Amino acid sequence: MGGAAFDLETCARPNIIALQPYRCARDDYKDDGNNTLLDANENSYGPSLSTDLSTNHEVNGSTLRLAGLNRYPDPHQIELKQLLCDLRQSTGSLTKLKPDNVFVGVGSDEAIDGLIRCFCVPGVDKILVCPPTYGMYTVAAQVNDVEVVKVPLEVEGQSPSFDIQPTKIKDILEGDSRIKLVYICSPGNPTGKLVDPARLKALLEYNWNGVVVLDEAYIDFASHGKSLACWVNDYPNLVVMQTLSKAFGMAGIRLGFAFAPSGIAGLLNNLKAPYNVSSLTSALAIRAVSEAGLQVMRSHRELIVGQRERLVRELSNISRVGRFLGGYDANFLLVEMLNGPKFLGGHPDNKTAQMVYSRLAEAKGIVVRYRGNELGCTGCLRITVGTEDETTKLLEKLEEVFQEIA
Ligand SMILES: Cc1ncc(COP(=O)(O)O)c(C=O)c1O
Repeated sequence: MGGAAFDLETCARPNIIALQPYRCARDDYKDDGNNTLLDANENSYGPSLSTDLSTNHEVNGSTLRLAGLNRYPDPHQIELKQLLCDLRQSTGSLTKLKPDNVFVGVGSDEAIDGLIRCFCVPGVDKILVCPPTYGMYTVAAQVNDVEVVKVPLEVEGQSPSFDIQPTKIKDILEGDSRIKLVYICSPGNPTGKLVDPARLKALLEYNWNGVVVLDEAYIDFASHGKSLACWVNDYPNLVVMQTLSKAFGMAGIRLGFAFAPSGIAGLLNNLKAPYNVSSLTSALAIRAVSEAGLQVMRSHRELIVGQRERLVRELSNISRVGRFLGGYDANFLLVEMLNGPKFLGGHPDNKTAQMVYSRLAEAKGIVVRYRGNELGCTGCLRITVGTEDETTKLLEKLEEVFQEIA
């Protein structure tokens, strides 16, 4: 079992270990509806909304109230955290995920940043990322004056695996004790590929005084396998991040979360702003992860997976569309644009990809993502899977673009 060398007390920043979190009077005396609340300088007359506050909004079978918005939200969000634990509790796992294993924040972007602030001393410590990967790990590191070390995914060869390289990561960690966090994205962005659990295990078995952060933003789209959130009960230095922005379709409410051993989750909760998750966000999040919301999520996911399969089939029929790189485990595809038809030996090409990208946007009103400059992604666009109509439009317009630039 890995993790023996991990010591939270020496791994986290001393100022964070010593931090006395902000406390409010309602940590002592709950807002149970009976107390007169004159402790937080709120406005007892109510929110400045001209709408009739007595109107109740029905969402996923339960009532959403606006009337309490003059009060600060719950800093602890235990009800939401319990539902998130229930969502990811694996039937095979003996140990249960509990609310004290959870951090909830303003998107998983808050967890990405919070972990860096928790573990990395600015100007001294480092994080490790595996390109091609999600850009916010590096942005958050730069904001915090933390250096980024790169160990690429496996991108060499005719058909690269785009999987992590645990041995290479271990070699780098061995030689650099200032690396405190390793960010791994599974399914990867932009690769759309689930990391092999055996490779992840190999990394987690390595004894070092740092934390592996597994970003599962797209996990509900994976064609096989499931969330490894429960592994936080087995590995003292694993954090698993997720979000309601993708499969749950709630990017606008900004709700991300991280499962972690209770010591790490406790530090993240101590350092966050006390009222980071708004009342509306948590009320909507609770409805999204309750049974009625899960049913909607699953039916949308089925539609997205159906369109993803259709896109793979129909894009393949376009002569200047090359290979799909990575995998089919997310709600997007990473696909090569060729400088000529495949039957005439066309190659993936950044100039073509850039041309297709801008023509699709400027002449056809379809915005995809150019990823040709990412490691191992020459000539690639990343295309999000949309509705059936959006897919039809994309396929039609892409063919037109290729005719126009031929
Ligand atoms: C891999 C990955 N992680 C995290 C996020 C951010 O998610 P959130 O909306 O929860 O901040 C994204 C968003 O695109 C992502 O691709």
